[in-house]
Amino acid sequence: MIRAIKGTRDILPPESEIWNQVENLAREILLLYGFSEIRTPIFENTELFSRGVGKDTDIVSKEMYSFLDRNNRSITLRPEGTASVVRSYLEHQLYNDPQILKLYYLGPMFRRERPQKGRSRQFHQLGVEVLGSDHPAIEAEVIEMLQLFLNRVGITNTELLLNSIGCSHCRPNYLKILKIKLINTQANLCVDCQRRALTNPLRVLDCKIESCQLIIKSLPSILDFLDQPCQKHFEQFLQYLKDRHIKYKVAPLLVRGLDYYTQTTFEITSTSLGAQNTLVGGGRYDGLAELLGGQSTQGFGFALGIERIILLLQEKFASLTPKTPTIFLAPLGEKGFKKATLVAQNLRNQGLRCLLDFTPRSLKSAMRLANKLKTQYLLIVGSEELESGKYPLKRMHDGTQILVEEKEIFYKIENGLEN
Ligand code: HAM
Repeated sequence: MIRAIKGTRDILPPESEIWNQVENLAREILLLYGFSEIRTPIFENTELFSRGVGKDTDIVSKEMYSFLDRNNRSITLRPEGTASVVRSYLEHQLYNDPQILKLYYLGPMFRRERPQKGRSRQFHQLGVEVLGSDHPAIEAEVIEMLQLFLNRVGITNTELLLNSIGCSHCRPNYLKILKIKLINTQANLCVDCQRRALTNPLRVLDCKIESCQLIIKSLPSILDFLDQPCQKHFEQFLQYLKDRHIKYKVAPLLVRGLDYYTQTTFEITSTSLGAQNTLVGGGRYDGLAELLGGQSTQGFGFALGIERIILLLQEKFASLTPKTPTIFLAPLGEKGFKKATLVAQNLRNQGLRCLLDFTPRSLKSAMRLANKLKTQYLLIVGSEELESGKYPLKRMHDGTQILVEEKEIFYKIENGLEN
């Protein structure tokens, strides 16, 4: 038997209904804040990610699904959305719009990580990118929006972690010191970090291996190396959060796993998830557009892992009732069935959720099935009814039954079987 590939899974009903509700709520809130949807391709030139996300990151060096196509071009299934959005922004010259651009996307991403609870190889992100502003207030606004979403979806027990990792002006000073410190303790670092210490020392701060963690804790904080503009930006950002009564914790080791970040970085974690407890990750990436060969563009955004949100909601939604058909059509006999197919077409045209039974069965068995499916109404379409032109319409929850003509069905249901 052919099975789904390791690290991927099917989202079946009724869980798919939870997904729809979460996505609909997200879209509703994004609209309140003026975001519009962008849909970029699932696969891109590999170079987009190696340049954008960074060759030394785990994502690019170990986790990408890359392959050569028939023209020997290296193609990659997108591991994240930010690089694609910025590519699209440059390709379509969206910078010609005088407004700041607020875009969002929802869809699958691919990383070849070790699957575990909350971590898969195909996963889904809701991502947001604001292009064309370096104002710290936009960062606070985006976080405010995230909090509204989490509150409305019913997720509590979260923590907002913040940091600033400086800019191309002040970060090199920090990296110089960091490199020296790391080289001095190189023997105690993991093999990956021994290499990172030389090529990309900031990545060491992201290492989860215990022996490295001990060293990381003793390293200087990047916050002590910020230049005046970066410091001011960070302070203003924190103030905008305070003004909104948004609680946060400054986490000087929060450098994130992607190379494009400058200044603000942030994560929202949940205390109710296991090891994979980061719900949201994001930050500012003012250098990314230039890295991709475009003009300098300020950017800020985040991505939220939908699987992790769903994991947290599963308990809450255990009692979720999927949208059931409003009316079940029980045909009796061949003639009844033919008529019922047309009644169904008619009712659906009028906007009723309608289920037509395709299996010949007794009326008793049809009733049982309608009950099981939790439909609100049942309509019997048999040869007797065809002759009289009047059909029994039954309300399932209290058994009330009336006789209706075909043209009255919709109206009667709308009015709860009253006149
Ligand atoms: P990221 O931290 O790599 O950031 O991913 C964001 C979120 O995606 C994570 O916090 C997590 O919830 C979810 N996620 C990541 N990998 C997996 C996985 N293997 N399985 C399940 N969920 C996962 C980015 O992707 C950046 N593009 C975010 C960003 C947008 N920064 C600025 N703009």
